[in-house]
Amino acid sequence: MHPFPKTKIPTYNSGRLGANAGGPKTTLDAHSKALLFSPLTLRSITFKNRIGVSPMCQYSSTDGFPNAFHFSHISQFAIRGAGLVIVEATGVTPNGRITPNCLGLYSQSHADAFKPIVDFVKSQGCVAAIQLGHAGRKASTLSPFFTDNQYNALATEADGGWPNNVVGPSPIKQAETTADVIELTGDDIQSYVDAFVNAAKLADNAGFDVIEIHGAHGYLLHSFLSPFSNQRKDEYGGSLENRMRFPVAVAKAVRQVWPDDKPLFFRLSVSDWAKGGLTSEESVLVCRALKEVGVDLIDCSSGGVVAPEDPSKFFEPGYNVAFAEQIRVESGVATAAVGNITEAQQAEDILKEGKADLVLLAREFLRNPQWVLESAQKLGAEVEWPIQYRRGKPRI
Ligand SMILES: Cc1cc2nc3c(=O)[nH]c(=O)nc-3n(C[C@H](O)[C@H](O)[C@H](O)COP(=O)(O)O)c2cc1C
Repeated sequence: MHPFPKTKIPTYNSGRLGANAGGPKTTLDAHSKALLFSPLTLRSITFKNRIGVSPMCQYSSTDGFPNAFHFSHISQFAIRGAGLVIVEATGVTPNGRITPNCLGLYSQSHADAFKPIVDFVKSQGCVAAIQLGHAGRKASTLSPFFTDNQYNALATEADGGWPNNVVGPSPIKQAETTADVIELTGDDIQSYVDAFVNAAKLADNAGFDVIEIHGAHGYLLHSFLSPFSNQRKDEYGGSLENRMRFPVAVAKAVRQVWPDDKPLFFRLSVSDWAKGGLTSEESVLVCRALKEVGVDLIDCSSGGVVAPEDPSKFFEPGYNVAFAEQIRVESGVATAAVGNITEAQQAEDILKEGKADLVLLAREFLRNPQWVLESAQKLGAEVEWPIQYRRGKPRI
């Protein structure tokens, strides 16, 4: 059920209020040479600028359902001019959630609960995306809110967790504190492909424009790609061709049910940042296979299976940008760059230098939800503010 009365929301191109109010798109069009504020079209979806909000777990859900917090959290970025908002990692099955407080999309009731959020995001001229994933051997952990910001603490059944239903490619625990891992059989793997397909159909029912498949950060799909977590001897383990079989099968199956006119993204940990792990050279081949089955953009992240050999990497500005560039150039697929992108000029340079097609920001948006509108001003892009906030726009 829709949480609010069906109100017409005035948008910038409403004309006389009411004439076209609540219409499909507000125009926050930019008239500048800044590439950051130029549109990008993938399939039939046009992003009004190249700035996206990276998916961020909020650990604020019950039974996988979004609520008023998620509505407010996601909407704030759509109101303030982001071209794209990607909803946090959302489990395709109950046991695929990272914590008992993570979102899920495994029933029509879940899709119905997402719909008002999607409708509102789109009413602001922003593209609505959802990250669909399975937490694999990192599932059934406690929200960092309950552990003094420690990750990987086990959520027991008493905590609402499912420690006896944590799955992965091989019986290798993520950490001392996480659950024992049940090794998936070939039939199980097919059932998880089906779960992604089911969630993709539900995402379409909810009205999302883009799906991002979560293939990063040590969760189920990445755990098949990485030799650290995948030590199988069957057709899903060993060679790169075998390790990528399940992630590519998921992308292929999702593409088959996801409408042709809507883009499909895939977030990949391009490197495990550790000797013996997945390398960026291997990831180039993975991305070529993903492109072949209809993935339109690779969101280039890194790490998550093991601790990186050099943790200082994660503090460097734009620490994944070189991966986005390598994948874009060598796999011939569009990329998003993410990771310590905080400055307007930094983002603009990434695009201008051909290193990525989109930039995604996470923590900077938590610090400054006004980042898009402030960056427009810094780069001299003329961007209309939302009509409700127009009186706050600085006059130069
Ligand atoms: C609070 C928080 C929650 C996150 N949750 C997710 C998530 O749900 N899915 C995901 O792929 N990455 C997640 N990330 C990683 C971010 O999307 C992003 O890749 C990372 O923070 C680096 O970007 P940044 O330097 O702009 O923060 C999360 C990061 C933060 C800070």
